[in-house]
Amino acid sequence: MSSATAETLGSLHDYVEYDHATNNFLEDVLAGLRLPSKRLPSKYFYDERGSQLFDDICELPEYYPTRTEMALLRTISDDVAELVGDGATVIEFGSGSSTKIRILLDALNEPLAYVPVDISREHLLMSAKDLADSYPDLRVVPVCADYTKPFDVPEIAGEKVRAGFFPGSTIGNFTRSEAVSFLRAAAIDLGHNNGLLIGVDLRKDIGILRAAYNDAAGVTAAFNLNLLERINRELDGNFDVAAFEHDARWVPDPGRIEMHLVSRHAQDVTVGGEVLHFEAGESIHTEDSHKYDIAGFKALAAEAGWNSIECWTDPDELFSIHLLRVA
Ligand code: AVJ
Repeated sequence: MSSATAETLGSLHDYVEYDHATNNFLEDVLAGLRLPSKRLPSKYFYDERGSQLFDDICELPEYYPTRTEMALLRTISDDVAELVGDGATVIEFGSGSSTKIRILLDALNEPLAYVPVDISREHLLMSAKDLADSYPDLRVVPVCADYTKPFDVPEIAGEKVRAGFFPGSTIGNFTRSEAVSFLRAAAIDLGHNNGLLIGVDLRKDIGILRAAYNDAAGVTAAFNLNLLERINRELDGNFDVAAFEHDARWVPDPGRIEMHLVSRHAQDVTVGGEVLHFEAGESIHTEDSHKYDIAGFKALAAEAGWNSIECWTDPDELFSIHLLRVA
């Protein structure tokens, strides 16, 4: 763990960086591609190009989660502010561009501090500075860390109450048991009696789900395939990206969209000097996106030590936002 020097801080009050935030991309890629059922961790989607493609996904007509969650957040923000209380410290897990948090900050009564936690250092610092400029009375303390690993929420002088924020249904990227572990750790990070506002995508008509991950413009396909391009760029790989096909399928048990990259024919690929073989039709599993019903998610949260305080959905019941409190 280390702190930044004064000149990089600018309008920020402090900055904390964890060593584990430096991922081992090559090691993780090779380990995943050596498995009998090949896998790549979805966290590696988000290089600069991948983050741009993800932002484009959020604007797609078929991709309902982002706009639905934002509209719902606007509708409920006053209720949330009431329930969270005055002078809160807001901790965001995977803060990205820190866009959605503005809706919450605008509604909260005199929030004390904002602690964005993200693995992508440059993006984190830039977004945190922008936010600090927009909210001069707010103490903004970015933490560069992998939020799936343990980290300490920095102590803020005069702290009253903590509220975690985990939007976007990012929880859906975890398996059920990983989600329970994450929520258990978050309960410890945040501490007794503190809250968590979490966005959870709902189960729904399979046609709507399939379309959201197989958009007509092919942006989700490009996002998925960018993982191979990133390996080529950063790890001296020689993937023929055109020889892989984007595949997003609904898997009813346990209820998730799986994204895969399927090899169109038998081929060998070299990554970091190692030769990897792909059979025709063999797939690399790149992402899970679990969908929950409200009762199922409350049960999961309860298992991880959280009480359900409130749950809101949009009128079409596409997306849910839960307010939980550490039991
Ligand atoms: C941001 C991880 C929730 O699973 O819907 C979008 C990522 N993948 N399209 C999701 C994603 C394909 C997104 N999450």
